[in-house]
Amino acid sequence: MFASENRIHHHIQELSKFTETPGEGVTRLTYSKEDMQARQYIKEKMIEYGLQVHEDGIGNIFGKLEGSKKEAPSVLIGSHFDSVPHGGAYDGTAGVVVGLEIAALFQENNIAPQYPLEIIAMIEEEGTRFGDAMMGSRSIAGNISDEDLDSIQDKQGVSIREAMRECHLDSSLPRKRDSDTLKAFIEMHIEQGPILESKQLPVGIVQSIVGLTQLDVVIKGQAGHAGTTPMHNRSDALITASSIITELPDIAKKESEDSVITTGTLQVYPNGANVIPGEVTFTVDIRSSQDQHVKNMIVEVKELVKQFQRNGIQVDIKQKTYIKPKALDPTIQQLLIDKSEKLNLEHCFMNSGAGHDAMVLSDITKAGMIFIPSENGLSHCPEEYSETYDIANSVDVIFESVKELTNE
Ligand code: HGY
Ligand code: MN
Ligand code: MN
Repeated sequence: MFASENRIHHHIQELSKFTETPGEGVTRLTYSKEDMQARQYIKEKMIEYGLQVHEDGIGNIFGKLEGSKKEAPSVLIGSHFDSVPHGGAYDGTAGVVVGLEIAALFQENNIAPQYPLEIIAMIEEEGTRFGDAMMGSRSIAGNISDEDLDSIQDKQGVSIREAMRECHLDSSLPRKRDSDTLKAFIEMHIEQGPILESKQLPVGIVQSIVGLTQLDVVIKGQAGHAGTTPMHNRSDALITASSIITELPDIAKKESEDSVITTGTLQVYPNGANVIPGEVTFTVDIRSSQDQHVKNMIVEVKELVKQFQRNGIQVDIKQKTYIKPKALDPTIQQLLIDKSEKLNLEHCFMNSGAGHDAMVLSDITKAGMIFIPSENGLSHCPEEYSETYDIANSVDVIFESVKELTNE
């Protein structure tokens, strides 16, 4: 094995300390104190492993090992380093750690690549702070405008630009990467599901990633006194929201086998035990491997919500970014298969039900993904766990792949 399990384990342990909710999982929001701590650690390690470090105009971190071919396109390795609330220590972070370990192996083995190697740690893949997914990779792909830096705001009304200013990140720096500066992107990610563990396989080669979007639904009723307002005289926003939410699963079940709909957030205003809810907001996460299924479900959810519009109840629905299903690059898949076989690592093809930065970067370069098993298939929770040994195996597969990609 090329990879150092000790180094990998140390990185995972250290990065997991940078959480807003110690003892209750990893909560690391973009541009937060915890982001700054993780950022500092990642940059220090990148410098230690001989990389030239810079941050782009939205705060993505890049560590570059120059190649002998000047101005040649880079091979990128990495993932995201933000988290969901009370998430795990491996989602995204393990992929960044794999990048750090690849850099350490290039340094340790004195490998001077022809094509540059870049390790990247991306921001806001989960959308936990600003409510829109894969913002770091979408920015690299050129899909975040200057106006977005001011109009995209967190729940406290702080814009991306203001949040960056507060943590001394420079939003005037370039954000977009031109396709001709990129040769390939490979992301290692935990599977976040049960398949590899149940098949007892160390490696999954990702063929495609589901299409996904999120809808923000607002139900406006009338707040009132819980004790003095007769039942027939109420416009209770929470009762309406609940009626809608309970009908959502059937829309997915009817649409297709792999269609899923999830309401993961719900806010009640004013949220008083003795107050009839005046306003409720909730999200609807919609996914399927087929574009048409996603589109059908968006239409059905919007129609369902509108049916509840009546006197006293106003409904509003906004659609967030929709990222189409993506097939990952077949040549990168084949490379990962060849190297897994060379390392005697059994593998299988997989389709990802989770969204990933690779699905965005596949629009501007050849993108590939490798999965490793998740214990009990758990993720987006403190129980999320993957073996260091499995992470090290994936490093070896990517190390072999990147040595080829940076020298052919
Ligand atoms: O939601 C997802 O699939 C990813 O974890 N952002
Ligand atoms: Mn995630
Ligand atoms: Mn992730």
